[in-house]
Amino acid sequence: MPASPAGQLRSIAIGVTDLDAAERFYTGTWNLESVARTGDAVYLRGSGSFHHILSLHRGDKPDVRNVTFSVASAEDLDAIAARTQANGGKLVAGPQPVEEPGGGTAVTIADPQGRVLRFVHGDERLDAAADDSRRRDAPERITHVVFNSSDVAVAQRFFEQALGFCLSDRTKIMAFMRCNSDHHSIALADSDADTLNHIAFVMPDLDAVMRGAGRMSDAGWPIEWGVGRHGPGNNVFSYFIGPDDFVIEYTADVLQVDDSYKTGGPSDWTWPAGRFDQWGVSKPPSDRIKQAQKKIRFIE
Ligand SMILES: [Fe+2]
Repeated sequence: MPASPAGQLRSIAIGVTDLDAAERFYTGTWNLESVARTGDAVYLRGSGSFHHILSLHRGDKPDVRNVTFSVASAEDLDAIAARTQANGGKLVAGPQPVEEPGGGTAVTIADPQGRVLRFVHGDERLDAAADDSRRRDAPERITHVVFNSSDVAVAQRFFEQALGFCLSDRTKIMAFMRCNSDHHSIALADSDADTLNHIAFVMPDLDAVMRGAGRMSDAGWPIEWGVGRHGPGNNVFSYFIGPDDFVIEYTADVLQVDDSYKTGGPSDWTWPAGRFDQWGVSKPPSDRIKQAQKKIRFIE
């Protein structure tokens, strides 16, 4: 696989209107664990080794502050800064030390459609959760973030040329992009606005996705789409609308690929009428989730 300097998707920073309520939800129900806090932010880890995978920031309205990747070498930061500017993006800051929990050195960029992406090297690692009962039912990490795009071709070109992503599959509505062996770390959905579509948290297996769906249901957060098994990426899914209408997904079984993966096109990924997943058990996405998927923007 052509080496991407982007490394691994690590975390997403989001603005929330009620920090305490959001922390209660993401720890008590979604099953992350608070690992650090500042005056107006909370940092949450999964069961994997990343210092945090989600940070919640007190704000007037929900938004996305940044999506952060953990890169393999300090040289990758310089390469990303140079390639960003050569391909229509903006260098926002760095490389410079990160002044927040998790640390490391980061370069922050904005892509041509205004998404703020941060690439960090030398960030802190924690021991993966040793506690079996915790690992069994906690998200390990974020496995993909999906962005709506007013022009997917523009965004796709930037992710390919500036950040070294490869196209894994293109359906009628979405471009699935990879930067390592995960089938996709980013997907770009055709839309009329540049908003956040959803954030996917990977669980240990299908049973953990199902138990998570039950836990959400018990707490009053119904399934908005799923449970089912996707076509591209082959992952199982269950989607919810969390606090502030962030769309969040429990997923598992994400297809691992290498250079031999044959990129699929729209004609490879069609469903029979009335079918929304491989199993044929999922109903279509709810109207609520379709609305929520268009609401949240990146910070200006
Ligand atoms: Fe997803």
